[in-house]
Amino acid sequence: MHISTALLAWYDREKRSFPFRGVSDPYQVWVSEIMLQQTQTTTVTGYFTRFIARFPDVASLAAADETAVLKAWEGLGYYSRARNLHKAAKIIEGEREGRFPQTAADWQTLPGVGPYTAAAVASIAFGEAVPAIDGNLTRVICRLHLVEEDPAIPSVKRRIYALGQALMPKERPGDMNQALMDLGATICTPGTPDCPRCPLIAFCEANKAGLAETLPNLSAKKPQKE
Ligand code: ADE
Repeated sequence: MHISTALLAWYDREKRSFPFRGVSDPYQVWVSEIMLQQTQTTTVTGYFTRFIARFPDVASLAAADETAVLKAWEGLGYYSRARNLHKAAKIIEGEREGRFPQTAADWQTLPGVGPYTAAAVASIAFGEAVPAIDGNLTRVICRLHLVEEDPAIPSVKRRIYALGQALMPKERPGDMNQALMDLGATICTPGTPDCPRCPLIAFCEANKAGLAETLPNLSAKKPQKE
């Protein structure tokens, strides 16, 4: 069996339920992924629902005053996210005839959209088979494939991306990314992973080597900023 088959079967049984799940509207996927960049899923839930009620589509967001957008973002923090979201909405409306980018590469041309967010939106809303590599996916991939070097090293980063790319199924890449995120958030956690409950235990090189708890090797990591 493939890793993706096993993980998607687990996701179908165990996925966490969020208001931005089961949504394929690129606008809603984009807004949620911007919110999720620096904010926990549980906090995003309420803000997402209110934001979509206030600005239901890209046209309404583009037409809004920046103060109204910032007001809807109040409490979420990292307000440049809201300013960039608003700027990007104006670009989509004003320069792209209201049409969203369809690929991760094109998403990255918009303000506030980096490689992670571009891959998340392109895979979830457009079915592009690209890995959305964040801290969760980095940890899961380092353990699955026993990557012992520091993921901050550029060559190691590239290897992790390639391993992530190889995990992506042609069908359901958006669900695969979200399944990897859920696995990283609930089972393959930092510190003490719950390996006995892991749907990928049979594939996991770190588990075989007894190293799951010690990976990823973030030894060179700079002190966390507040
Ligand atoms: N973190 C960022 N994007 C996410 C998503 N779509 N589901 C769960 N956690 C996430």
